[in-house]
Amino acid sequence: TDAAGGETPPMGWNSYNKFGLGVHGFLVRETVDGAKRYKLDEAGYKYIVMDDGWPERELAADGRLVPDPNRFPEGIKPLTDYVKSQGFELGIYSSPNKRTCGDWPGSLGNEELHAQQFAEWGVKFVKYDYCPTRNDEQETGREEIIRRYRVFTEALNKVDPEMVHAICEKGWAGSLSRRQRKATNGTVTAEQRHAAFAWAPELGTMWRTTGDIKANWKRIMQILDMQEGLEELAGPGAFNNPDMLEVGNGNLTRAENRAHFSLWCILNSPLILGNDLRNIPDDVVEIITNKEVIALNQDVLCKQGKIGYSRDGVQVWVKPLKNGDTGVLILNRNDEPVDFTFNFADASLEVNAYIVRDLWAKKTLGTINQSLKLEIASHDVKVYRLGIP
Ligand code: DGJ
Repeated sequence: TDAAGGETPPMGWNSYNKFGLGVHGFLVRETVDGAKRYKLDEAGYKYIVMDDGWPERELAADGRLVPDPNRFPEGIKPLTDYVKSQGFELGIYSSPNKRTCGDWPGSLGNEELHAQQFAEWGVKFVKYDYCPTRNDEQETGREEIIRRYRVFTEALNKVDPEMVHAICEKGWAGSLSRRQRKATNGTVTAEQRHAAFAWAPELGTMWRTTGDIKANWKRIMQILDMQEGLEELAGPGAFNNPDMLEVGNGNLTRAENRAHFSLWCILNSPLILGNDLRNIPDDVVEIITNKEVIALNQDVLCKQGKIGYSRDGVQVWVKPLKNGDTGVLILNRNDEPVDFTFNFADASLEVNAYIVRDLWAKKTLGTINQSLKLEIASHDVKVYRLGIP
């Protein structure tokens, strides 16, 4: 009963990280124009997703969602047609609840009707976001929430089996850590995280694994640390989602933007941009359109990267690729630059010598034996593709 979507991690843009609850039709049109102008389609980006806040505050008498006429004077269908005409697809948002997180109407009890509306409008991606709201039972049990996601998956499959179903149920990450913090003195184990999301791959193309990201380094590192244990849940058409990108937002430095983007690529994460696409600084364009780094993310093996080893505040991440190559990311988490020796054997790489290509320098370094001596700036990464000579 999979709502399949693409087999590799979905790529696109979502309104929330930059525009909060303020999405509207003209913004979507301008965003698509920006995406086209910066050639984001050629880099692989596809879905332009409207987050919470697009409908009227109440359902129509027959249960339908009505687009807010102030925000969407043309309705949704002409907007979808425009998005498609520019080579992208429209995505939309609803909730398995009476109300959304921002207090607009959700789809609980009207799943088939709303799925039909989305399909008739030509929408290709639905983010389905659960928040326990004031009109919900005090405590909706876990089984009930999963049941609601299943109902929606089935409704989507009926209208369009290609529809991406983006599950957003960060409550479990939150309540898990709260609950487990008591039980285990503050730590959530990798096994507990795996168990908390084991239901999701069957029902969604992607599923959120944490609460909201923020455009600061500390939060990005917290989210990174919460991905351990989830690796084996991911595979073709099913992806852990450590939340949408903040590249280009807030005060992230150029190194931090590059590191954040590269990490999400190595993690096999959906690449959903969250910045303002109407006007993108050159250094941000360069980061989000680096085709060789994106190729690590879009590799058809769909293996999530893992930490090979860590030393002195530096992590070596390893991602196996379909053609036998290996993606490697080396992250300096220190507040100072470091000198670091990357030892192939320490990362459990099986071969002694590799042809090494540096994906940010865009240079092939040649065949390297056993180890590579590096200097890495603070909060920065090196990203390599290793090939067998
Ligand atoms: C909570 C989600 O985690 C966010 O990404 C966003 O969709 C908001 N809800 C919208 O209310």
